Amino acid sequence: MFAVFAESFDPDEPLNGLRLGERPEPTVPDGWTTVTVKASSLNHHDLWSLRGVGLKEDQLPMILGCDAAGLDEDGNEVVVHAVLTDPSWLGDETHDPKRSLLSERHQGTFAERVAVPRRNVVPKPAGLSFEEAACLPTAWLTAYRMLFTQAGLKPGDSVLVQGAGGGVATALIVLARAAGMRVFATSRDETKRKRAEEIGAHEAVETGARLPHKVDAVMETVGAATWSHSIKSLRPGGTVVISGATSGPKPSNAELNRIFFLSMRVQGSTMGTREELRGLTEFLDVTGTRPLIDSTMPMQQAEDGFAAMARGEVFGKVVFTL
Ligand SMILES: NC(=O)c1ccc[n+]([C@@H]2O[C@H](COP(=O)([O-])OP(=O)(O)OC[C@H]3O[C@@H](n4cnc5c(N)ncnc54)[C@H](OP(=O)(O)O)[C@@H]3O)[C@@H](O)[C@H]2O)c1
Repeated sequence: MFAVFAESFDPDEPLNGLRLGERPEPTVPDGWTTVTVKASSLNHHDLWSLRGVGLKEDQLPMILGCDAAGLDEDGNEVVVHAVLTDPSWLGDETHDPKRSLLSERHQGTFAERVAVPRRNVVPKPAGLSFEEAACLPTAWLTAYRMLFTQAGLKPGDSVLVQGAGGGVATALIVLARAAGMRVFATSRDETKRKRAEEIGAHEAVETGARLPHKVDAVMETVGAATWSHSIKSLRPGGTVVISGATSGPKPSNAELNRIFFLSMRVQGSTMGTREELRGLTEFLDVTGTRPLIDSTMPMQQAEDGFAAMARGEVFGKVVFTL
């Protein structure tokens, strides 16, 4: 079958190890099922994999991709929950020490077919296209958990979203606005700041610029480049939720004194549970909110999407169709 996969790692030029071509059909263990992929979406995770983060040489070649929407073996329209847990694990799937995401231990979703545990297949909401549904399992689910579970934000609260253009960041802006929050965003790029305001930010400022007032929570995926600003933008007692560190894990100033003196909470977050994926699909159904898609292209042109993400040129999700 056709697939997009990592053949080798390159920490500096991740696209060097990217290959498109034939891979064997998935093997389907007991309790697993095969999903015929109609659409999948690109995440920064796929670039990290090509850089060698989270994968070892002896796992190559590895089909990339965490996200998929498609048809199950009975022809039902489904979305794949990308968090795989040990069969014996009960409770919050993201807390299983043995959990992995598709394309980490098991072959990923950038292929004509993908094998997943039966419990990881959830119904696709009828109102969402395959392309929209393919945006949910990683970026949109991560954003949903960050805002509502980890920060516990409510209508009327204020939130800052760092790095406005990213897949997670655009999801954060759209979801926070739809839930009745006051939304601030930052971006290095003026065009992206304008677009952030068009999709729901009340105000988008340059990266590092002072906000009109301190916020109840900050959503971090950029890491080192914005960490100090995140802490300085938070009200006393506020929460910073971090789910990524695209610019690196070592901020020049971790702002430790400010964090304890102003009783701030630092909360890590990874992906989301099946129950949160269900909550997200309900939220989209009820509010009419839809995932923001930057571009849609046939999976055969996936290299263009990877290159755009590596250059930091995307605004929203890049979707691959089959
Ligand atoms: N923990 C989880 O479950 C989880 C889930 C999804 C994603 N993530 C992580 O979250 C991060 C974002 O993922 P994504 O898929 O949304 O990636 P993406 O689409 O590539 O987003 C990256 C964004 O980060 C900003 N950025 C990058 N470098 C920057 C710098 N030096 N200074 C300021 N801003 C910078 C950019 O914002 P501007 O260009 O607008 O400034 C860009 O739009 C990745 O590190 C990813 O691995 C984690």
